[in-house]
Amino acid sequence: MTATVRTRVAIIGAGPAGLLLSHLLAGAGIESIVIDQRSREEIETTIRAGILEEGTVEVLSSSGASDRVLTVGNRHEGIELRFSGEGHRIDFAALVGRGVYLYPQHEALKDLISARLAAGQDLRFGVTAQRVEGAETDRPTVFATGAEGQPLAIEAEFVVGADGSRSVARAAVTGASTGGYFREYPFAWFGILCEAPPSSDELIYSNSENGFALISQRSPTVQRMYFQCDPETDPSVYSEAQLWDELQKRVPGTTLHEGRIFQRDVLRFRSFVAHELLRGRVALIGDAAHTVPPTGAKGMNLAVADVLVLEKALRALLLEDDSRPLEAFPEKALHRIWKAQHFSWWMTSMLHVAPDASNFDRRRQLGELRSVVESEAGRTFLAEAYTGWPLEGLQ
Ligand code: DHB
Repeated sequence: MTATVRTRVAIIGAGPAGLLLSHLLAGAGIESIVIDQRSREEIETTIRAGILEEGTVEVLSSSGASDRVLTVGNRHEGIELRFSGEGHRIDFAALVGRGVYLYPQHEALKDLISARLAAGQDLRFGVTAQRVEGAETDRPTVFATGAEGQPLAIEAEFVVGADGSRSVARAAVTGASTGGYFREYPFAWFGILCEAPPSSDELIYSNSENGFALISQRSPTVQRMYFQCDPETDPSVYSEAQLWDELQKRVPGTTLHEGRIFQRDVLRFRSFVAHELLRGRVALIGDAAHTVPPTGAKGMNLAVADVLVLEKALRALLLEDDSRPLEAFPEKALHRIWKAQHFSWWMTSMLHVAPDASNFDRRRQLGELRSVVESEAGRTFLAEAYTGWPLEGLQ
């Protein structure tokens, strides 16, 4: 027997997009149910990117979703672009008067989950959405199965697919689970976490003859670093000494502080935007709507921007019976999504060395990097995008 529950907004996915949306809706007096196929532990421990735009931090802190971001997170006011063995600082504070925060995504998720549970949110882990039906009706329904396979139907006034890049909700919106604008890249990132002091105060994005490396941080004793690798790389084949060698040769001019490597993963690169973000009363946000390659860390920040646009639209729809903001949701969200797609693609293609790069490509790339760092307009363009375009007007 299928158990049926009713709610105003059914949200599939307890990632940053789904949890923040339920949090903001609750603030407006709109109740929701959030389901996720993963366990709470899996959500809270999966390692993701670590950079939050200043606007994202303001949303998390001012809405009461996370206070820790301001106390535990580290504010960064610049990054270094390194190429031809030289470092060039992009001074965000001087160029655009903004900064970013280094605060790992899973820490933001811990904060959001505990805030939602403390507020009595109906948040169900281990519940897998199978399909969404009735997008064009005023009772769209999520069909799901619980941890023991028991069937569940969630009838709602609105359904949100915040269920990541392998979204189940997408088929109800675009007509196909894969339908979208898509680009793949011939490289990936090998990511490590290690026990070592920081090798630099700020992040280093390094372009070298041997490919790209990113030197990031986590804490005074734990560091996060990435280097460009083949997408088919098996992360277990490298010894620790080989990993340090790969990293070191991609950041000429800096000697990295080495230490025990306790986590390793290979991240594939994709650019994707779904053909549609809305059908009737089902919308897609976050990675269900779009994926960006990781260079520049736009993924979670873009999800937060989607949430702001959709939350405003749902308030108008469900509290004032005004569907106009919802009709405007795709265009408004896509405006920022395509800018972020461009920025992520641009940072990626400017900094990585494609396996088939010719001598011309390589020299053109160094010319591009010089054009950026030697021009205040170039540095400002990068700083504006990296720290995040203003969120005003979306809420
Ligand atoms: C991190 C990840 C990114 O993709 C990035 O551009 C910067 C930092 C990180 O995980 O620290």
